Amino acid sequence: MKLTYYGHSCFSVIMGGKTLLFDPFVKYNELAKHVDVNSIPADYILLSHGHEDHVADALDIAQRTGATLVSNYEVVTWFQAKGVKNAHPMNHGGKWKFDFGTVKFVNAIHSSGLPDGSYGGNPGGFVIEGNEGAFYYAGDTALTMDMQLIPLTCNKLDFALLPIGDNFTMGVDDAVIASDFVKCNTIVGLHYDTFGFIKINHEEAIQKFKNKGKELLLPAIGQTIEL
Ligand code: NI
Ligand code: MN
Repeated sequence: MKLTYYGHSCFSVIMGGKTLLFDPFVKYNELAKHVDVNSIPADYILLSHGHEDHVADALDIAQRTGATLVSNYEVVTWFQAKGVKNAHPMNHGGKWKFDFGTVKFVNAIHSSGLPDGSYGGNPGGFVIEGNEGAFYYAGDTALTMDMQLIPLTCNKLDFALLPIGDNFTMGVDDAVIASDFVKCNTIVGLHYDTFGFIKINHEEAIQKFKNKGKELLLPAIGQTIEL
């Protein structure tokens, strides 16, 4: 699968010929100034929760591309009120078959208020499965025992995208444990370096995963990798 990293927790994966874009936060990301948000493609926009650093560019991209927005019920309803036409609400534990594969909305330990203070439901992560394979995007979350349920209920994960920046989410040490919980050895790190509280030492983070026989990938912003 082709994965493109757009900074912070924003990335896209191509599956079944469709571009799945997650948590777009580009325009206001100082580290992503070289990325043109108007050129980011999307057939689906998946939002893990309502926080600004995950939804800031979702409305513009949805309106430009006509992409289908997928998130929890409350986040989807908020965007529909702003004019998003194509949307698919989900809630925890639910799985839906789309034209590219299946999406399951899974637990995350975090919060989910929307940018204007509206109630954003509860935050989540996504397990995506299709002909090309399977992956897990944790969203913003603490390490949680619920992650152990994921490998019991899906195909073997090819890779997992985990927050590693600490302070607002789990940090590297907990993310190493999370990768064990979901039985995955190829990890893409997210939610680090964007602002002061979450700056990390890259070499140290990579080494901590390496010590457990795992690979931590930290693609450059704008870079596309094959997984
Ligand atoms: Ni958040
Ligand atoms: Mn966040």
